[in-house]
Amino acid sequence: MFKTVEWKNNAVVLIDQTVLPDKEVYKTYRDYKSVAEAIKKMVVRGAPAIGVTGAFGVALGALKIKTNDSKKFRKEFGVIARHIASARPTAVNLCWGVERMTKIADENCDSSVPELKKLLIEEARKIHAEDIEINKRMGKHGGALLKNNSTVLTHCNAGALATAGYGTALGVIRGAIEAGKKISVFADETRPFLQGARLTAWELKKDNIDVTLITDNMAGHIMKKGHIDAVVVGADRIASNGDTANKIGTYTVALLAKEHKIPFYVAAPLSTIDMRIQNGEQIPIEERDSKEVTHLKGKQIAPAGVKVKNPAFDVTPNKLITGIITEKGVVRRPFKAGLKALFKK
Ligand code: MRU
Repeated sequence: MFKTVEWKNNAVVLIDQTVLPDKEVYKTYRDYKSVAEAIKKMVVRGAPAIGVTGAFGVALGALKIKTNDSKKFRKEFGVIARHIASARPTAVNLCWGVERMTKIADENCDSSVPELKKLLIEEARKIHAEDIEINKRMGKHGGALLKNNSTVLTHCNAGALATAGYGTALGVIRGAIEAGKKISVFADETRPFLQGARLTAWELKKDNIDVTLITDNMAGHIMKKGHIDAVVVGADRIASNGDTANKIGTYTVALLAKEHKIPFYVAAPLSTIDMRIQNGEQIPIEERDSKEVTHLKGKQIAPAGVKVKNPAFDVTPNKLITGIITEKGVVRRPFKAGLKALFKK
């Protein structure tokens, strides 16, 4: 089985998701700036995976700080944390991971620098291990919602590649299968970065899970034909009212699901829920390079100089969401109260 992100010999190792499925290549990063660059370029992507990688990046940066003076260390640590946190804006998990690391630095400010470095590496490893456990719990809760012999549509890649392992939306599918159900998957190709075609199809095939690939514009037709029983997607940030930012195109899928009376589930860990914001309007939407739209594998497919928009995410309003699957159970309407309760338990 592949490893999405790993801490190995005091370095961060990532499977390069920009070249999958053509090549299975692992890249080693030995400084925090190149980890931030890998997040930006989407060598690693998916909200939980960049949260974990961000934490490892902070640990790596801290490890390489040369001073043993606690005050100077803390100052350099702040620069590293801010640099990593700003690599991508939409998925709140990145800030969440960096904040967890910062908390360790704050709570142990009286420790020696070598001791603090040790604690930071331990914390990042803990975040990594916890993510897999959380996904498995989510898989159990979400898997129970899927009926035997059902077909699930998913968008983007919210699988093992988007997390430390197992996945959120694909974790729900894995959870149902592990509970003995027969589940088939339809994967949207997910233009322009093709996470569905390149990554979801790859990891499901590797796991022998039945997957059928469609282009994004086929989803309505497939639903109308009665082929889809449920939609399960991941999330990059969920506002306190349940509005959900996920990969561009998710909103369209949610509207289609509503029209065809198909349940639309979002699977995400608590680290994706941003209780600091009231609604989806407050979620920053990343705009990426126009070349992702005008080029395919480096080859230009649109006229030179054409105007392009490339928002990487959209926001699905809470009214289109049937349930939010978390590691603490499934939250249904009213989302505001349900999500708040999750943080009290
Ligand atoms: O731009 P990406 O590939 O990082 O976007 C990923 C998604 O939108 C995923 O659906 C989301 O992060 C959930 S991953 C478990």
